[in-house]
Amino acid sequence: MAGPDQSPAFGSLALIAVVIGASAAAFAYTAGWLSPQRLTPGKLVAAFAPPTGVALGYRRNHAKGICFTGVFEANGAGSELSQAPVFARGQYPVLGRFNLGTADPNAPDATVRVRGLGIRISTPDGQEWRSAMINPPVFPVSTPEAFYELLRASGSKDPNALETFATAHPEFAAFRDWDKNAPWTGSYAEERFNSLNSFRSQWQN
Ligand code: HEM
Repeated sequence: MAGPDQSPAFGSLALIAVVIGASAAAFAYTAGWLSPQRLTPGKLVAAFAPPTGVALGYRRNHAKGICFTGVFEANGAGSELSQAPVFARGQYPVLGRFNLGTADPNAPDATVRVRGLGIRISTPDGQEWRSAMINPPVFPVSTPEAFYELLRASGSKDPNALETFATAHPEFAAFRDWDKNAPWTGSYAEERFNSLNSFRSQWQN
């Protein structure tokens, strides 16, 4: 039986065991080991693979792109809305990358519907303003899980996979409409790039 002078040591050991156990459980949960059906970052990233297999050394999505440098010319009007230095009238250096929304770095330019623009604007006080935008006006789906399903349906050999997905995800219709009807431009410079903010609806279950 533990004497009164042994209790603190036992308590410390128990606390260490609890901390280690909780940490291990948190790692196991994050890795998806406790719930194999749950979507994990690893599963989502693995789903980005062209038919020829993962293109090592490239981004998993928007794999094909071209970098540029430029200047952001702020006309000062944004200062009415925000004190951010980047909106003060002036010129700020930009580092950017035009890209194609595909996991295939060798995809021909004219075959990829979604085009992207990533930029980093630097201000004299050392701030960096980063943005990733794409040309569709809406994102195809509203949850990461649905995006994963869409990737799987797009890469499926089942010819009905995309229709089955569309039926299960009515929100996909707006993107499909853009995909079908929006004009294809001949240059990145002719695109409108959208930031696509997301909101949680108060009516959402
Ligand atoms: C479920 C949602 C999304 C997923 C899973 C996803 C996934 C990815 C991945 C894996 C990359 C490659 C990152 C890297 O290796 O550096 C990427 C790049 C990019 N994404 Fe997304 N993305 C999502 C939503 C969006 C949205 C909503 C936008 C814009 C409105 C966007 C715009 C971009 C752009 C522009 C790039 C290329 C950035 C660069 O040139 O470095 N993505 N995305």
